[in-house]
Amino acid sequence: MATDIRAIKALNDFPETPYEKAASQNVLEFRWIHGQCFQFRLPDGKVLMTDPFLPQNPKAWRREDTPVLDLNELGPVDYVTINHSHFDHTSDLPAVFKENSPIVICDRIFARELSAAYQVPEYNIWPIVPGMTYQFDSFRLDTVAGKHNDIGGPCDLEGARFIDPENAMVGPLNSYGCLFNTSFLFTLTNHYRIGFAAGVDVKGMAEAWKGIGIDLLLRQRLVYAKPEEYAEDCKLLGGQLIVPMHHDAAFDWNADMNAYALDVNGLLRQDGVPMAMFNPQRLKWYKVQTSICAEAML
Ligand SMILES: [Fe+2]
Repeated sequence: MATDIRAIKALNDFPETPYEKAASQNVLEFRWIHGQCFQFRLPDGKVLMTDPFLPQNPKAWRREDTPVLDLNELGPVDYVTINHSHFDHTSDLPAVFKENSPIVICDRIFARELSAAYQVPEYNIWPIVPGMTYQFDSFRLDTVAGKHNDIGGPCDLEGARFIDPENAMVGPLNSYGCLFNTSFLFTLTNHYRIGFAAGVDVKGMAEAWKGIGIDLLLRQRLVYAKPEEYAEDCKLLGGQLIVPMHHDAAFDWNADMNAYALDVNGLLRQDGVPMAMFNPQRLKWYKVQTSICAEAML
């Protein structure tokens, strides 16, 4: 139908209906649990867990007052991703499987050992080849091959250095963990992108993600990384918001992660880089949202 342009009037800037003060759209929710273990409530309602390892695990670095996860509070887990197969990224898979039957996404090189070590049914495992892209209902997954840092000593198939007398498969898994380290780019159903960046091959990840643009960057705080090095890595990788991971392992000088994040943010600001680091409190759920609000409210 043709519009009668003679009937068009100017906008009423002072309508009877009041202006909204703000608007926001929920993007996702997440919590940091321990090591590289996070839970994400995704936009389609499904839940992703990364590298299952809980603070109460007897092998976890923890202090007397480190809060532990009440397993009754774990809730649903629909997907699990494994960055690498060391015990501190895998060994609480059985706790997740108690109440759930998630898809476990891991490098196919250690999928058999992972299945055997933690009695994960093969049907639940989605073995991936690093470098390839996979489509799941809740996200597209781009994968990047990388390296773990050098934690010293020789790797061996029996895993003599990391052997677990109670679980024969853990030694080999720990050995694979020194060899293979996969980073992930999750593109969610609302097009939000999470970069999960672990290990030392920052240049490889940056190259793979060049021109894509990360929204939320999860970057491993390597135990020895100074704020300057961490900030440089984040600049290469990109992202609007940065959340650290694996900062459970710390030295005296970097155990205060709030101070560390302040330093990183100072460095980013100084260089005019539009990125901000946020240090989440363990076990606390956070909301990521896109919002509009009046400048006066900032
Ligand atoms: Fe680790």
